[in-house]
Amino acid sequence: MSEKTTAEVKREIERLRREITEHNFRYHILAQPIIADAEYDRLFRCLQELETAHPECFSAQSPTQTVGFPLQTDFQPVPHPLPMLSLANAFSLADLAEWDNRVRKLLVKSGSADPIFDPAGHLAYAAEVKVDGLAVALHYEDGALICGLTRGDGLVGEDITFNLRTIKDIPWQLPPYVDQLEVRGEVYMTKSDFAALNEQQLRRGEKLFANPRNAAAGSVRQIDPKVTRERPLRFLAYAVFGLADATTHAHALERLEQLGFPTTRPQRAMGVKAIQENYERVLAEREQLPFEIDGLVVKVNNLLDQERLGAVGREPRWAV
Ligand code: IVH
Repeated sequence: MSEKTTAEVKREIERLRREITEHNFRYHILAQPIIADAEYDRLFRCLQELETAHPECFSAQSPTQTVGFPLQTDFQPVPHPLPMLSLANAFSLADLAEWDNRVRKLLVKSGSADPIFDPAGHLAYAAEVKVDGLAVALHYEDGALICGLTRGDGLVGEDITFNLRTIKDIPWQLPPYVDQLEVRGEVYMTKSDFAALNEQQLRRGEKLFANPRNAAAGSVRQIDPKVTRERPLRFLAYAVFGLADATTHAHALERLEQLGFPTTRPQRAMGVKAIQENYERVLAEREQLPFEIDGLVVKVNNLLDQERLGAVGREPRWAV
């Protein structure tokens, strides 16, 4: 057997630190350990031995140097590999028709060769609810959730991984064949959970939340994940990067559903008239929806065309 290289040792140490931190979180915060104490001790000793043999890898944050699940004093800034954009608004059917015209012209100019138009020349869109919560980005590597970020300023987010791990809608583990994946979506609270939470706040003499969005935002940015865990947070995915086999937005989100994510379930719509029908349907059902929405998001369905259209400043041209 050849000696391990320094890089290999470093990777092994980092892997063990991550694994042990995850077990600390499950034990101390979730009160749901998934390994026996003896197995935990074995991992811990393994890490201790490696760190002793390689003092150059010392870290004060290593689980061998800390107790329990130490709380951070603030959230670490982490850059988004791809910026988290915002959305342009359309306030009327005329706005929407204008946007559709612009998009079709730009696509024709760009020489898009994909079958995006139906025989009547309508472009394929996907329409979905605009969930009123807060945006987060989830990063998976080799199937494991390794990092979860807030939107922040769109370029740099805050690391809220362990708070997001308390949300049951968010899978920790995907099939290992999924290597690198970024899933974006909205953390939100249902209307009924929000009402129940406020009743509880009232009984406890604590401050009331103004609306479900504020309640969700306040809950997910808690320093102590134990507090977050007590809050009824939910997640809906609305975008994904890294699914090689998906060619359209609607298809990509169907794949996400298969991987265990609840999604916004985009509806395919050919052209403006179909979007309008979809909008009216959502408006009629709005009161019955379990969560608050602040509109409909319309996206060009073809992912290559989304890329061709790109963004102006912070707003994508392919969505409204
Ligand atoms: S798409 C690049 N889809 O709306 C397109 N955003 O102004 C931007 N949001 O804070 C994201 N529901 O968190 C998209 N179905 C949805 C959404 C959605 C809610 C939020 C998003 C962001 C804001 C964009």
